[in-house]
Amino acid sequence: MTATIEAPRTPARPARKGGANLEKWGWIYMRASGVVLLVLIFGHLFMNLMVGDGIQAIDFGFVGGKWADGFWQWWDVLMLWLALIHGANGMRTLVNDYTNPGTVQNVLKGALFAAAAVLIILGTLVVFTFEPCPAGAPADLLPSFCAA
Ligand code: HEM
Repeated sequence: MTATIEAPRTPARPARKGGANLEKWGWIYMRASGVVLLVLIFGHLFMNLMVGDGIQAIDFGFVGGKWADGFWQWWDVLMLWLALIHGANGMRTLVNDYTNPGTVQNVLKGALFAAAAVLIILGTLVVFTFEPCPAGAPADLLPSFCAA
C-alpha cells in the first residue's frame, strides 16, 4: 500500500484570487499597533508610576481625576482598543497555526472575537461614562473629595 504525502507548505485552503488581502493588512496592523502601543503603554506607566508621588498616589480619586480630562480618556481608550485587537488578532494567528480548519478552529476564533468585542464595548463605556461623584448618591457612599 502506498500513501500520498502532500508537498510541504501545501496551503490548507486554496489561495484567494482577488479582493483585499486581509492577512497582509493584519500583519501590517500587528507592526503598526505594536509601535503605537510602545508609546501608549510606557507613557501610561511613566505617568502613573513615576511622575509626582508615583504609585503611592494611585487611588479612586487619581483615576477619577485622570478621566475628567478628555486627553487621558482618549489615551486609555486608544490603548484598550489597540491592545485588545492586537492581542485577539495575535491569538487568531496562533489558533490558525495550531488547529485545522473546522469546528474547533471556528469556536476558538468566535470566542476570541466575542471576548475582544465585549471588553472593548464595556471598557469604552466605563471610560466615557465614569462619574466619581454621581448626583443624588448617599453622602456616605461618595469619596471625600466630592462636594457635599
Ligand atoms: C509594547 C507593546 C507591544 C508591542 C511592541 C508588540 C509587538 C508585537 C509584534 C511585532 C507582533 C508580531 C510578531 C510576529 O508576527 O512574529 C506581536 C504579536 C503578538 N502580540 Fe504583541 N506587542 C505589544 C503588546 C501586546 C499586548 C498588550 C498583547 C496582549 C493584549 C499582545 C499580544 C500579542 C500576541 C498574542 C501576538 C501573537 C504572537 C505570535 O504570533 O506568536 N501584544 N506583538
